[in-house]
Amino acid sequence: MQILDEIISGKAKSLYRTDDPKRLVMRFRNDTSAFDGEKTAQLDDKGRVNNHINAFVMKKIEEGGVPTHFVKLLSGQDSLVRSMEMLPIECVVRNIATGSLCRRLGIEEGLDLEPPLFEFFLKNDALHDPMINDFHILTFGWATREEIEQMKSMTFRVNEILKKLFAEAGILLVDYKLEFGRCDGRLMLGDEFSPDGCRLWDMQTREKLDKDRFRQDLGDVVETYRLVAERLGIQIDH
Ligand code: C5P
Repeated sequence: MQILDEIISGKAKSLYRTDDPKRLVMRFRNDTSAFDGEKTAQLDDKGRVNNHINAFVMKKIEEGGVPTHFVKLLSGQDSLVRSMEMLPIECVVRNIATGSLCRRLGIEEGLDLEPPLFEFFLKNDALHDPMINDFHILTFGWATREEIEQMKSMTFRVNEILKKLFAEAGILLVDYKLEFGRCDGRLMLGDEFSPDGCRLWDMQTREKLDKDRFRQDLGDVVETYRLVAERLGIQIDH
C-alpha cells in the first residue's frame, strides 16, 4: 500500500489518501493544542503513544459490538482506517463532572453523574464548537433521526466497554468525546480514542492522566500517557 497526499491536517492528526480509495492513513502527530488553538506545543513521542493507545481501544470497542473505521496499526505514528463521510458533530459522555460542564452550569467539580450525561457539540472551530441538541441536528440536516439515535446508543455502549476496561487498570473514565461518520451505508465510530480526547483519573488518587496535564501545565504529559498505556497492558513498538 502506498501513502499518497495529505487530505486533512487537524490539530493533532493528519489523514492521507492511499492507493486504495476506501482506505486512509491516520497519522498521530506530536502537535498538541488547547483553548481553541491558543496554546500549542510539540510533545515528543505523543503521536506514537497515542497511535498505540487508539489501536488498542478501537479494537476493544469493535469487539464490544460498535463498528469503527479502524482497520489496523501500521507502524509508529500511523494507522489504516476506512474512508468515511464524517458528521460535523461531537458526542460527549460524562461520568464525573468537570471541564466545560462545571463552567457552564456551576456544577460541583468531581460530582458522580448518574445516569451519565450525553451532550452534542457542533464541530466548528470558528464558533468554538457550540453545544447543540437533536433539534439543531435535524433542522440543519447534520444527521438523520436514526443516526442521532445510533450516535447516542453507540456512545453509551462505548461507555460500558471502556469504563470496565479502564477500571481494570485502576483508572476512572471521567468523560470523552467521540465522532461518527458514514461508511458503506452505515454509521461507524471514526476519529480517535486517546488521552487527548478523554479525561482519565487515577482511581485512588484522582490524579489526572490525560490532556488536562497539558491544559493545566501539570507537566509529564507524554510520560503520563505512556503510563496509561502500560497500565492497559499495551506494548508500544519502536
Ligand atoms: O471541554 P469539555 O469538558 O466539554 O470536554 C469534554 C470531553 O471531551 C473531554 O474529555 C475533552 O478532552 C473532550 N473534547 C475533545 N475535543 C473537543 C472538545 C472536547 O476531545 N473539541
